[in-house]
This record gives sequence, structure tokens and C-alpha cells, in this order.
Amino acid sequence: MTIGADDEQCTIVVWRVDLRHDEPPDWTLLDERERAVADAFVYPDDRDRYGRTHCALRMLLSDLLDVVPTNVPLAVGKSGKPFLVGAAQRVTFNLSHSRNTALIAIGRAAEIGIDVEDDDGCTDYSELIDTAFDRATAERLHREEPRQRRQLFLRGWTRKEAVAKALGSGFLIDPRRFPVPLDGASPWTVRLSQGGAEFTLIDLSDAAVVAALAVERFKPRLLVRDYHHQRDRRQLAAPIAEQ
Ligand SMILES: CC(C)(COP(=O)(O)OP(=O)(O)OC[C@H]1O[C@@H](n2cnc3c(N)ncnc32)[C@H](O)[C@@H]1OP(=O)(O)O)[C@@H](O)C(=O)NCCC(=O)NCCS
Repeated sequence: MTIGADDEQCTIVVWRVDLRHDEPPDWTLLDERERAVADAFVYPDDRDRYGRTHCALRMLLSDLLDVVPTNVPLAVGKSGKPFLVGAAQRVTFNLSHSRNTALIAIGRAAEIGIDVEDDDGCTDYSELIDTAFDRATAERLHREEPRQRRQLFLRGWTRKEAVAKALGSGFLIDPRRFPVPLDGASPWTVRLSQGGAEFTLIDLSDAAVVAALAVERFKPRLLVRDYHHQRDRRQLAAPIAEQ
């Protein structure tokens, strides 16, 4: 891992979607694949969270691309990463959902990965430590008192997942292969291996969630916004459309 000083810039907008409201998702906005994924959820709450997130994604992308939400040309890669095809392919995005919050990051050109986890204040992640971190970091985490261990684990986990999602492999790549910082002083530059892909990693945590964004190559100008379904649609994509 190195701290870089790259001047290349791009704008990424991160939209926060509150998944706690009761309004049902507008299923007509989604395509057949998305509806099939939604139908496969066992619990209705999970299905609705998926539906709300994908409605928000389609609304945001439809503004940016100036097409109706059902015509947003979404496809999914072989490791599961969704992307845009055709003339829209320079727009890049990634999303993550926790129980209460979804984050949708949208930019141009740079590959993006984002991850969000709720911190419920009590889950013990000890059993996952050895599968996620190199030995020295894992030993350090096991020695921490429970509250600090949970917080550091979630920081490390979300940061690794954001990088793995920017890369597109998800955790098909072994998360122990690359270290991430566990401190709070973001942004950082993370390299997967000597001469390998390089990512800017940004902490997006707040009082309710632990979250991180990874952007391949660029050091982004970051805008964080709350998504409201009824908002004037022209407002939604403006920061990206201007680029
Ligand atoms: C990608 C992965 C890290 C997501 O983890 P998660 O904590 O369950 O879920 P999150 O809420 O953070 O993110 C899920 C979203 O990431 C996106 N995503 C899925 N696979 C992805 C990948 N390989 N790279 C980047 N993003 C991906 C999708 O948009 C997904 O949301 P959706 O299903 O509503 O469209 C995890 O699924 C993983 O490691 N997968 C490995 C790849 C794999 O097994 N693929 C098999 C499917 S083909």
C-alpha cells in the first residue's frame, strides 16, 4: 500500500438511499432479470430493499443518460458486477445495500466499488477475521477489546470489499492478498500488488454506517447526496453530466 499524489481528477457522486420507508418499490421500472432476482428473495423485506435500490439506480441513470428508466442499458458481468453497455458504457457505477441504507456511486470512466455495512453495536465478527486479514493484522484485531475490534473489522472489511468491487472480482479475490489502512485518515492510495491496479480509497462512514468507496486510478472529487424519489429528476445527474 502506498500513499499517492496523483493529480488526475474525476467526479463521483455517492447517493444515500434510505431503505427504511414503507413506500413499495415501483417494480415496473425494473427489467426481467431484476424482477427474477427480487422474486428469489425469501423475505419480503429483502425483496423490497432490493427493489428500492434498483428503482433509485434506474432513476439516477435514466436522468444521466436521458432515457426512460426501463431503457437504461444494464448488464451484469461474469463475476456479478453490473455495468452499462453501448454508448452509455463510459458511465460507471456501483452499489451496496445494508439493512437500512443503500449507497449508489456514479462516475465516468473510472471503475468504482462501494460497500456499506450497518454497525449494530453488538455483532462479534471474530470468526471472520482470519479469512479477511493477513496474519499480523488478524492477530492485532484478536487482541483488541470487543467494541474496538468490531469497529476496526468493519472498517477493514468495507474497505477491502470496495476495492474488490472496483476490481470487479468481488471476494473471488482473496481479501488477505492486499492490506488496507484501518485508521480514519482517508483518502489513501491502495495497490493490489507491485505494478498492479491502483485505487483511491475513501472512508464514507457516518454515525449509522461503516462505508468505503474505491476508485480505480483517479483521485475523485466526491459529492455525497441524499436520494429522494420525488426530487426534480433534472437535479439528479447534473454533477456528472457536466463533466
Ligand atoms: C460482490 C460481493 C462482494 C457483494 O457483497 P455483498 O456484501 O453481499 O453485497 P453489497 O450489498 O455490498 O453489494 C451488492 C451489489 O454489488 C454489485 N456486485 C455484485 N457482484 C459484484 C462484483 N463482482 N463486483 C462489483 N460489484 C458487484 C451488485 O450491484 C450487487 O447488488 P445487486 O445484487 O442488488 O445488483 C460478493 O457478492 C462477492 O464477493 N461475490 C464474489 C463474486 C461471485 O461470487 N459472483 C457470483 C455471482 S456471478
